[in-house]
Amino acid sequence: MPLPFRHLTSALDLKREDTEAILTVAREMDAVLAKGGSELLKGKILASLFYEPSTRTRLSFETAMMRLGGQVITADGLQFSSLYKGETLEDTMEMVSRYADIIAMRHPELGSADKAAKAASIPLINAGDGPGQHPTQALLDLYTIQKERGKLDGIHIAMVGDLKFGRTVHSLCYLLGLYKDVRFTFISPPELMMPEKVTKYLDEKKCSHVVSGNLDDGLSCDVMYVTRVQQERFDNPADYERLKLQYVLTADHLAGKDVTVMHPLPRVGEIATGVDALPNAAYFRQAGNGVPIRMALLAMMLNKA
Ligand code: CP
Repeated sequence: MPLPFRHLTSALDLKREDTEAILTVAREMDAVLAKGGSELLKGKILASLFYEPSTRTRLSFETAMMRLGGQVITADGLQFSSLYKGETLEDTMEMVSRYADIIAMRHPELGSADKAAKAASIPLINAGDGPGQHPTQALLDLYTIQKERGKLDGIHIAMVGDLKFGRTVHSLCYLLGLYKDVRFTFISPPELMMPEKVTKYLDEKKCSHVVSGNLDDGLSCDVMYVTRVQQERFDNPADYERLKLQYVLTADHLAGKDVTVMHPLPRVGEIATGVDALPNAAYFRQAGNGVPIRMALLAMMLNKA
């Protein structure tokens, strides 16, 4: 089941038939994981290039490759690579294309994934480009919603927190826009509202979206997708301090509620730890879903699924 594109840099690269194919293969990969893995990608090498911090995305990409019998080479942190010495991203991609079969790259600059993909002669997957996009997170988010709520069409999702800089919510809006009758409630401080380019896209897709300043408006939705305020994107630290914990979800909010709570993680206080033991709390299961989704993507993009 090959995919109709060479690189995955944006959720906008994906059509509904692609997301459905990836979710189908991810379910097969969950079965592969239950049996302890496979040798499907034996002999293949993933270049895992993380020029901005990551725990989940990097480790789940590397786990995914290893569970499929492949191997991983890494470069992490700008200061430990030759980019720090002034090498261009294009030259780095020329080199890495000679070492590996596929690249997963995170980089702090918006648009860096497209720039790198143009220079790479092997498939490249965007693992987060600054405040831009995080398409593989959006895919694992879709997979999680489908598993937790049994559907994607007709879902009502509240997105909470930093909707301006949070790349995960941008990419998730683009993917949910492919489904029918999806409704969005955007809950954020006025300074951190969803960018107009995303809301315009939702208008084109005829998805209803409303803006709210009240956390309670998310509690009657199917899914509440909470995000951290992205400290690293603020020029003025005082603005971050003022905005960072305007919404804190606690177990009290969730008493008697059926809403599924998701978060791309890391959290920095916006979901109280008292929520973790509730059945609503899906965020650690969500992080686990990164492995079968990234196994599916690696296998499909290497034409091995
Ligand atoms: N969700 C996510 O992107 O987490 P990391 O920053 O740890 O990769």
